Amino acid sequence: MRATPGAAGERGRDFLLGREIPPADQPALLAALERAVRERTDLRPRVGLVLGSGLGGLADALELEASIPFEELPGWPDATAPGHAGKLLFGRLSGVPVVVQQGRFHLYEGHSAGFVVQPVLLMGRLGAWAVVLTNAAGGVNPEFGAGTLMAITDHLNLTGRSPLVGPNAPEIGTRFPDMTAVWDVDLRLRLHAAAEAERVALADGVYACLMGPSYETPAEVRMLARLGADAVGMSTALEAAAARWAGLKVCGVSLVTNPGAGLSGAQLSHAEVLAAAELAGPLLASVLARFIGELDPQ
Ligand code: HPA
Repeated sequence: MRATPGAAGERGRDFLLGREIPPADQPALLAALERAVRERTDLRPRVGLVLGSGLGGLADALELEASIPFEELPGWPDATAPGHAGKLLFGRLSGVPVVVQQGRFHLYEGHSAGFVVQPVLLMGRLGAWAVVLTNAAGGVNPEFGAGTLMAITDHLNLTGRSPLVGPNAPEIGTRFPDMTAVWDVDLRLRLHAAAEAERVALADGVYACLMGPSYETPAEVRMLARLGADAVGMSTALEAAAARWAGLKVCGVSLVTNPGAGLSGAQLSHAEVLAAAELAGPLLASVLARFIGELDPQ
């Protein structure tokens, strides 16, 4: 399956789209990615930051050292979702060396679970000890209107997919990784401290990840509420699980761009999601810049 009809045969497009990548294949693929990055920059990131839909502006605060378009990395396509820029940025945020994924890969584009998580695994391989995952999400909790920022306390992976299926790579992580504490409590408390200092309201909640690309039906949103979700989106959970498997610390924030389907009577559109993300994005950027600047060196 191809996400970009007619693109078959174009340079770099007939890569791995949809090809399953078992964990055992990741080390060699990550080694090639690491070599490609090292041809462009020596920067050793301490933290990795993944920017979700409409949140690419968070990169503006970066003192940029290198910018690598996804398609210049082995096996990577350009990011195809509108609102996703498709670059790996290296630089300093509040003085801390970071790598920023501006735009991400999604299952709904036809990518395999193993491919979706390669960026976070690469971040770890390049030196990051923690990753910060951001996304745009629909509000499932009726109290979470557009503009709500929610620190992620836990997730529901409802995609039916896992990046950890297939022969394992024990040099990266264990076969049966513990998922009791995917979302690091200490990092989340630090996110709250940064938000308080920036006078930005930050809620807590559970993120449910569905495959998309359709938004949910109202019945699905009611189901998600009964399952314990506070927000819903189409990313993040696989990356979080893979990062944890690889021994990285994980934290994240959802920016609620709309009440979930059926909660407001309005229909959902990607344009509205992007507009709402751009509106609240600067607040999240100020929280993350402070959060990263105040992290202890590890
Ligand atoms: N559902 C799923 N993903 C989303 C939504 C939503 O309502 N809003 C932004 N991303």
